[in-house]
Amino acid sequence: MKELRTRVAIVGAGPAGLFLGHLLSREGIDNVVVERRSREYVEQRVRAGVIEDGIAKLLADAGAGERMVRQGLVHHGVELRFEGASHRLALSDLAEGRAITVYGQQEVVKDLVRLRLERGEPLHFDAEVTAMDDLRSDAPYVEFEGPEGRTRVSCEYVAGCDGTFGVATRAVPASEMRRYERTYPFSWLGILAQAEPATQELIYCRHQNGFALYSLRSPTVSRLYLGVRPDESLDEWSDERIWDELSTRLATTERPALNVGPILERGITAMRSVVVAPMRYGRLFLAGDAAHIVPPTGAKGMNLALADVRELARALCAKFQDHSDDLLDTYSQRCLERVWRAEEFSTYMTQMLHPSFDDEFENGVQRARLRQVVTSREASTVLSRNYVDLNSL
Ligand code: FAD
Ligand code: DHB
Repeated sequence: MKELRTRVAIVGAGPAGLFLGHLLSREGIDNVVVERRSREYVEQRVRAGVIEDGIAKLLADAGAGERMVRQGLVHHGVELRFEGASHRLALSDLAEGRAITVYGQQEVVKDLVRLRLERGEPLHFDAEVTAMDDLRSDAPYVEFEGPEGRTRVSCEYVAGCDGTFGVATRAVPASEMRRYERTYPFSWLGILAQAEPATQELIYCRHQNGFALYSLRSPTVSRLYLGVRPDESLDEWSDERIWDELSTRLATTERPALNVGPILERGITAMRSVVVAPMRYGRLFLAGDAAHIVPPTGAKGMNLALADVRELARALCAKFQDHSDDLLDTYSQRCLERVWRAEEFSTYMTQMLHPSFDDEFENGVQRARLRQVVTSREASTVLSRNYVDLNSL
């Protein structure tokens, strides 16, 4: 078996793992990132698209936001659409001038991979971490299987940034970590389409047939989602059916609803909430989806992941540079407060915008909530602040 030695072994090259590696390397802290998929795969994986105000600044301040600043789309409002009518939420007016940046998650990943490879820092693709151990000692290790066979990475700390149900959470004895979970009776069918967006701002829409979201990636690429039943498969959704349903749900009396074009990518994602606590076991620290999942309606998944590693990098720097354990010791508790706020907001948005198919009482409550958001300055201010910058509040 090959042997490697580093200070921090990072499992996973999603936004969390790559950004943690980036922040540590900037501080001269040696680290190795190990990713089981290929570079092409992680750079093409279409997922989230909304970056909070504080998280966009974090990326830019860390020298990782140059292309995001040039190509990302800064939005100062979003639209809520229900009962066939549009209501604009003036996010920036309601949230002290802050704004969101619409920039695909895979673009963030591409930027971080490029920066890392340009600086010659270790990043192993096609390399699956199969084991980690001695996590409660001061000499933990991880092992991975890569193109050159098996490698053992001896380190001082392990960062579990390996996404849902990964090897990191599985390495923790069940008695040492609690798991809180909720499922929702919906999935999202998402498409990326070569079509000029027919909207300047994102549209979150509640229609009696279900939820719809109109988002975008560039002046020529649209990103759209439909709320579907959890047991539905892509085979049941022809291109024609997808576009018909989107145009039905997004229709208003005033404007053409959307522009149609070739579908470049499609997928169905189940919606759920998961929190594991604590986000630490000995010298293993969890970050991002490895520690928590939110339903996507609040656009918080990637933002939470980047905010976690902002904390983790700071804590590891304090340890390596000032010999202080304080921030490492409070990492889990500080993250979890923010994570539960994100769960609350994501649940609130989900429950307000996904109509029930069998509970008319629930539907009455949802409509009342939506009316309150668009008529009460207090309610729209709370929503806007959480939407634009929850992870920096
Ligand atoms: P990930 O991006 O999942 O990265 C984890 C990485 O670890 C992966 O590259 C994985 O291949 C790697 N890995 C796993 N196991 C191992 C191992 N044993 N060895 C080595 N590497 C390993 N959020 C939104 O806000 N809006 C959305 O529309 C949205 N859509 C989504 C669609 C899907 C299909 C999924 C799964 C998530 C979506 N999310 C969305 C959530 C958002 O994408 C995540 O919150 C975000 O990716 C979290 O980043 P991360 O780095 O923690 O995890
Ligand atoms: C996008 C994804 C989300 O989950 C969301 O709430 C808003 C936008 C997107 O992919 O653009």
